[in-house]
Amino acid sequence: MATSPLLVSLAVGASVLGVVLSFMLRSTSDGRIVNLGGIPILNAWKFFSKRYDFMSAGFRKAGGLPFSFRILQYRVVAVSGTEARKHFFNDPTLGFVEGYRILIGGPKMEDIDIKTDVLEDISGVHKRLNLLLKRERISETLPTFLEDINRRMLGWGQGSNGSINPFKEVYDLVLQMTVRMATCQEIAKDVDVIKKIDKMYWDIELSSTPTRLLLPWIPSPSKKLGEKAMMGLYLLFLKYVQDGRAAGAETNDPIDVLIRNGDSDNDIVEVIIGAVFTGFVNTGVNTCWALLYLGTHPQWRERARKELDGLISRHTSTSPAGEPFHRLLSSIPFDAWESELPIVDLIIRETIRLSFNVTVPRRNLGKDIVIQDTVVKKGDFLVYSLGDANLNPEIYRNPEEFDPGRFEEGREEDKKVHFGYLGWGAGRHPCAGMRIARLEIKLVLAMLLLGYDYTLVDGKGRPTNVLPKPNRNDIQQARPMGETVYMKFKRVRD
Ligand code: HEM
Repeated sequence: MATSPLLVSLAVGASVLGVVLSFMLRSTSDGRIVNLGGIPILNAWKFFSKRYDFMSAGFRKAGGLPFSFRILQYRVVAVSGTEARKHFFNDPTLGFVEGYRILIGGPKMEDIDIKTDVLEDISGVHKRLNLLLKRERISETLPTFLEDINRRMLGWGQGSNGSINPFKEVYDLVLQMTVRMATCQEIAKDVDVIKKIDKMYWDIELSSTPTRLLLPWIPSPSKKLGEKAMMGLYLLFLKYVQDGRAAGAETNDPIDVLIRNGDSDNDIVEVIIGAVFTGFVNTGVNTCWALLYLGTHPQWRERARKELDGLISRHTSTSPAGEPFHRLLSSIPFDAWESELPIVDLIIRETIRLSFNVTVPRRNLGKDIVIQDTVVKKGDFLVYSLGDANLNPEIYRNPEEFDPGRFEEGREEDKKVHFGYLGWGAGRHPCAGMRIARLEIKLVLAMLLLGYDYTLVDGKGRPTNVLPKPNRNDIQQARPMGETVYMKFKRVRD
């Protein structure tokens, strides 16, 4: 049989390519670590576009052991399990800021070439946040939070009835409180400025595409969008900082407090941008999920309601006739909101366990270390999915179910293993905003559970018990996936 030389060379070419590809695409095992193999850019793409699925598939392939892959020039090691968790959250050589800089989107001052002290050390951000989130400051601001919430709620629907998409309207409430807690009165009072801020944060969210994060030097549309929004936010906040400085920084507003603390304009703007962003993506979304879960779990809603009623009766005298409900709530001291709502605390804890399961990054800035028998070299990145603890069936019974009772005395499922609950982080980097975030969620719940009746309805206004699912592939936050669920409300207390 005659064979064409062209066919022969094609056949040889194809088999060489096949060998090369199968070599490139196979996963390899280096010591105990499985290298995912495949085409690096595709792996990296999945890491940025479908992160939760990527991590789950990686661990399935590696039989639960660590696996590695490459992003740009970096080696990334994914770890899981109790031992790895201890290292990941406790090891002082694992850098927090460096991890976030490269592997996570969100607002970054370096994107617009502004240098601040956070690149070397996150302690400056902590000091500033601690100053803003001091107990006395939160206590003083509490009544204004409630005024803000009430004013915004009065704008919902028609009169005292209507229907809202919580992921829009409740989100806005939380943004309003976050702006008040982190900026100044002029901004907090100005609905149009807050709308502008809202839009710029959304643009930054939208711009966190795989292209932008993976190929940051390419002038892609998402890069332009992100940089424009970041510059917009920077200039907007900078103007208020400069105005505050020019006016002598005499008020008790957050910006003035930071100016009097001796912080530079850029460091102040950075802490504002970061705090508002975290409030926006974390507190906002979790408040919405708590309302949805309570909408489908009447027994927990009733327990929360009773507890909040008890709080009011313990801390308020019989109100003078006509005292608005939100003012009644503002006479309850901050300490009581913090320590006298154990049921609501369980609800918040369970909501976050279910919804907030992002993958968190670190970078090894010290010597080579060994985790789960795997060498993590200096310069390597480490990633850990919070869901490895929060959604682990060996820690939580029916982990996908909303069941706040799992944390109650006698069950305490989260205590079975070290760092069994990661909703607020753990070890060296626990959430620095937990106190304010919990308060904000509680205030919204109090206003909505006691001041309103609400039911969940679908887009056609029909009652529904079917909730959307948190999108765990979202690299920042857990937006809902599936049919939008609305809250049909009636105001019952003014
Ligand atoms: C419901 C709302 C929130 C949730 C669920 C949440 C959750 C978390 C988690 C899981 C971490 C650890 C991340 C890691 O280990 O990589 C963290 C860290 C942090 N959070 Fe939050 N957070 C919330 C709200 C806030 C707010 C409102 C602020 C600021 C005002 C804030 C500021 C921070 C900071 C600065 C860190 C880093 C701490 C450090 O480096 O030591 N968080 N948060």
